[in-house]
Amino acid sequence: MKKIEVKATSKNYPVYVGQNIFEQIPVLIEKKSLHKNVFIVVDENVLGYHLKRIKNIISEKMSKVVVVEYIANEKSKSSKSVEELYECLIKNNFGRDTLIIAIGGGITGDIVGFAASTFGRGVQFVQVPTTLLAAVDSSVGGKTGINYRKTKNLIGSFYQPEFVLIDTTFFKTLKEEEVVCGIGEIMKYAFLGDEKFYYAVCASLQNILKQKHQQTQNIIEACVNMKASVVKADETESGLRKILNLGHTFAHALEVEQDHKIKHGHAVIVGLTCALYLSYFKGILSAQKLIEYIELPLSLQNRISIDKCNIETVYKIMQRDKKSREGKIKFVLLSSPGVLYLDLEAEKETVITALEDGISHFI
Ligand code: GLY
Repeated sequence: MKKIEVKATSKNYPVYVGQNIFEQIPVLIEKKSLHKNVFIVVDENVLGYHLKRIKNIISEKMSKVVVVEYIANEKSKSSKSVEELYECLIKNNFGRDTLIIAIGGGITGDIVGFAASTFGRGVQFVQVPTTLLAAVDSSVGGKTGINYRKTKNLIGSFYQPEFVLIDTTFFKTLKEEEVVCGIGEIMKYAFLGDEKFYYAVCASLQNILKQKHQQTQNIIEACVNMKASVVKADETESGLRKILNLGHTFAHALEVEQDHKIKHGHAVIVGLTCALYLSYFKGILSAQKLIEYIELPLSLQNRISIDKCNIETVYKIMQRDKKSREGKIKFVLLSSPGVLYLDLEAEKETVITALEDGISHFI
């Protein structure tokens, strides 16, 4: 198994990537001398396939193991669900010597991480991402949170895990739409890396879609390495880490406007398309490059659908994004892969046109 070190200011920790490595969990817990009172929160979809495997492996050598199911969706990524997790921890007599393990996709990791960061003022936490999206992005870097008052991830914390374990065998049961979600974040990294990486992503896209193991693992490692270096430079998003929001201001607003009928990773693909248009309208990206780069998100155009969309509402939601200041939306834009611009603003009409042009490809 591969080991990638994340060196954040608050904590250093490893990310393990490999096939059939879930079995290593007890050894890794032992090696790091983590607590043996283990509270495991598992995404319901994963539980259906892997309950026995999870219980058998983690019960080994532990003092106490409680497994709870979490029905993961953007609506259950709420303060009510966090409270339910606290209740369950208290009911089962968990204290500060607890290790919480999140097994699931990005929503599960975010909410369970938030519960871990707040229960008893913070208990040990391990991430086991079981979706491609969580593996390449959300499980690494310590962002945790919940949705609040129709704003995505409004309440949250930066709280780094003890380790992240990416066992690619979990991906075998993913539906294609989930793989597409992961590719959404991979496309983001394609635009954040250099041209060489951008073309490598373009070349391996179909193989990732078909879940070819080696290509998928290579891309996961490349994305995690990239994320680790960004988090090392700026753990709490005061500067460089903002690049990881490329396409996300558009995406989050679209998700809310669509009442979460569009999945996050799909919305990221639409959001990247809008960001490319806005980069062009702002004079940062040439017409020729717009045509070239837009090919990447549009290569999955027929796997994403948006029913109907009120652009004015999307704009209003973007204004209340947590990164906006006094209604002024801050954008991450680009002139080529790896050449990013942070905190840019744009006239409302320009943003609306970028939204209309970007979204039109997916209607
Ligand atoms: N998903 C963006 C970040 O972790 O900063």
